[in-house]
Amino acid sequence: MYSKIIGTGSYLPEKILTNHDLERMVDTSDEWIRARTGIIQRHIAAEGQMASDLALEASRKAIDAAGIQAQEIDLIVLATTTPDMIFPSTACILQHKLGISGGPAFDVQAVCSGFIYALATADMFVSSGKCRNALVVGTEVYSRILDWTDRSTCVLFGDGAGAVVLTQSNQPGILSSHLHANGSYNNVLAAPGNICGGKIQGSPFITMEGNTVFKFAVKVLEEAVFEAITANHLQASDIDWLIPHQANIRIIKSTANKVGIPMEKVVATVDQHGNTSAASVPLALDIAARDGRIKTDHYVLLEGVGGGFTWGSVLLRW
Ligand code: ACO
Repeated sequence: MYSKIIGTGSYLPEKILTNHDLERMVDTSDEWIRARTGIIQRHIAAEGQMASDLALEASRKAIDAAGIQAQEIDLIVLATTTPDMIFPSTACILQHKLGISGGPAFDVQAVCSGFIYALATADMFVSSGKCRNALVVGTEVYSRILDWTDRSTCVLFGDGAGAVVLTQSNQPGILSSHLHANGSYNNVLAAPGNICGGKIQGSPFITMEGNTVFKFAVKVLEEAVFEAITANHLQASDIDWLIPHQANIRIIKSTANKVGIPMEKVVATVDQHGNTSAASVPLALDIAARDGRIKTDHYVLLEGVGGGFTWGSVLLRW
């Protein structure tokens, strides 16, 4: 038994913040942001719009595309770094907003690798027969944890959500997943604050050593490609679509170059929405699935890297 994606969906909030808008907020320029990151604009959630609201929009589209009823979903695995609240989980809140109940629903926290972790987890439930239809979601409102006076981080991120429906299938489907972490890097990229006695202790905003993150991301994204193709007895040239975490076009191009996959076979959407962390891979997947780039039988390699550090891949036969 395998699990197979039968529907995808995504959602970006209405409000767009361009690089030119940022020029009026911090000492930066459209030129600098485009040259260093490839980002042109990002979407920002409206006041009161939570991670579960973005997830709901993306999930409804994925469920529609799958041609099933929400009631048929018997597992929700939701990846987010920006949950609605400390508890209950955003997955439970989403389940309620979808008007369903009964099946397990839980959050996964692996920062920008979150969707890869969530998809690999849901695959275990579905391919083992424990669940029939899983909803797997990446959703983020990073605008809430950015210091909008810090030009080194606030230009990089945006809000959004992506979702897929995963169902049992006797054909692949998900061929493999590989997950990794190295917690010794936990200080390099973090929002280190915590709540104690009703007060925030430490900074609740993102802090990052940009250069270290850059080098680490390129290294492990390259390793993740080779790990996946080796495990499946494939060559890099067999991959029809590489969908890496959408952090920065320079990281994406360096990875593609190192593994020998031409940019024509790489889905890159970071220019339109910035780094949406756990939402970035399902957002890019949905865009490429809906515009017809991804076709039946294509090999699609998804990969993520993020705070922790965490990283990993999922290889699919579409
Ligand atoms: N606008 C203008 N200048 C800026 C900005 C900005 N927004 N941010 C930093 N600078 C300045 C710096 O102050 C520095 O100035 P100085 O030379 O006078 O000191 C100069 O630009 C160069 O700074 P660097 O940090 O060396 O620039 P770099 O080329 O490394 O680019 C960047 C920075 C874009 C953050 C890069 O390191 C990067 O992409 N890192 C990966 C980070 C990332 O993608 N994080 C996302 C989360 S992690 C993940 O998703 C995997």
